[in-house]
Amino acid sequence: MFIAQEVIRKKRDAGKLSSAEIQFMIKGFVDGSIPEYQMSALAMSIFMRGFDAEETASLLNAMISSGVKYDWSKYKGQRTFVDKHSTGGVGDKTSLVILPLLVADGLDVPMISGRGLGHTGGTLDKLESIPGFRTRVDTPTYMKWMDENHAGFGAQTDEFVPADKKLYALRDVTATVESRALITASIMSKKIAESPDALVLDVKFGSGAFMSKYEDAKALAEALAAAGRAAGCKCVAALTNMDEPLGRSAGNALEVEECLDILQGAGPSDTKELSLRLSAAVAAAARGEFGLDAIDKAYARMKNLLSSGKPFEIFCRTAVMQGARLDDLERKSRNWIDGNAKIVPLVALADGVVEQIQTRNLGIAILEMGGGRKRTEDVINPFVGFTQLRKVGESVRKGEPLCMMHIDPSRDNSAVEKLLQESFTLAPTGSKIEPLPLIKEWL
Ligand code: URA
Repeated sequence: MFIAQEVIRKKRDAGKLSSAEIQFMIKGFVDGSIPEYQMSALAMSIFMRGFDAEETASLLNAMISSGVKYDWSKYKGQRTFVDKHSTGGVGDKTSLVILPLLVADGLDVPMISGRGLGHTGGTLDKLESIPGFRTRVDTPTYMKWMDENHAGFGAQTDEFVPADKKLYALRDVTATVESRALITASIMSKKIAESPDALVLDVKFGSGAFMSKYEDAKALAEALAAAGRAAGCKCVAALTNMDEPLGRSAGNALEVEECLDILQGAGPSDTKELSLRLSAAVAAAARGEFGLDAIDKAYARMKNLLSSGKPFEIFCRTAVMQGARLDDLERKSRNWIDGNAKIVPLVALADGVVEQIQTRNLGIAILEMGGGRKRTEDVINPFVGFTQLRKVGESVRKGEPLCMMHIDPSRDNSAVEKLLQESFTLAPTGSKIEPLPLIKEWL
């Protein structure tokens, strides 16, 4: 028998928790016998004191066993199940391109994602900005989607990793996100419970990542991949740059629009490139092929698939299956986005070349504009954010936009504008600032 406050006290004082204590806390949190205030205190103690590998594994197992695990055995020898998960960032939207690309390559993608977390956006909030799109469904419905469509954008539910559903929402608003143990258990509980054959992990480093230091991001990547491999999944991880937002837009609906553009042959090159590389890596891993040559080979195939238009058809088919209207996805008819926010430029105060972007601030600005949650019950405005972002290495003249802000005019946005202004560092005109490399290392 355990007492919640004694378990919290032990971790608060840097003690090591047993598997039984961790199981007790997670089970109690899910069944409601342990309230949010006690779980918040434990999460903060874990954040401050850390969990070692054994405690992290116990937390992961407790979270997986809080719900059902998908079972694909009836498809054995006929279907291969793969997925991608990112540790999160600003403008980080590749899931919307990767799922249909992988299905077009003949793979099945049970993709369970999360909502916005801390200063980062979440796939579910992005997708749910599309009118009618639903992601939280019961397990039989999700299984039907997988059976008929080979893919579905899903969420944690009361049946599927309910521990992550509750803890994720709590961490979002209690400053307990940036913990290696908590991130590992959160991501890998969802991924292992999906039972994929192969998985690619996109682990971000830089000013907009939870693990801003490269060494911390690498340690996280190793922990994530090790947990996946221990569960029998072929895992590959990429360390990717979040020192600037991905693409030129951030904010829920604005990111959907950028992905729809990519799927229809346009859109920003960095987001397209990263989506192709991550898809290639997991498609190769699924066939038991690893290393840069294998990724390059699969990349050529992914590029052809993207230009064929098939992934756009698959995205539309999936979105319609999940409640969206086909009309809303076509380029000509995105009027569900237009007119919902006031668009104003964030002008450069001097001539120069973009040298640095404090990317976390851009995520905080979106939150402050109403695009993220300050309390778990907050309803977000999916239309706020920014577009036409000037990237590192690009020149700007005084008075030209650094980005276009999509704001809710009923709010006072002056603090946001100041924060955004302070987030861009300009080098003198003519300075040679190299664009940031997209992928630093594969593990
Ligand atoms: N993505 C998740 O699913 N969980 C985290 O903790 C961070 C990113």
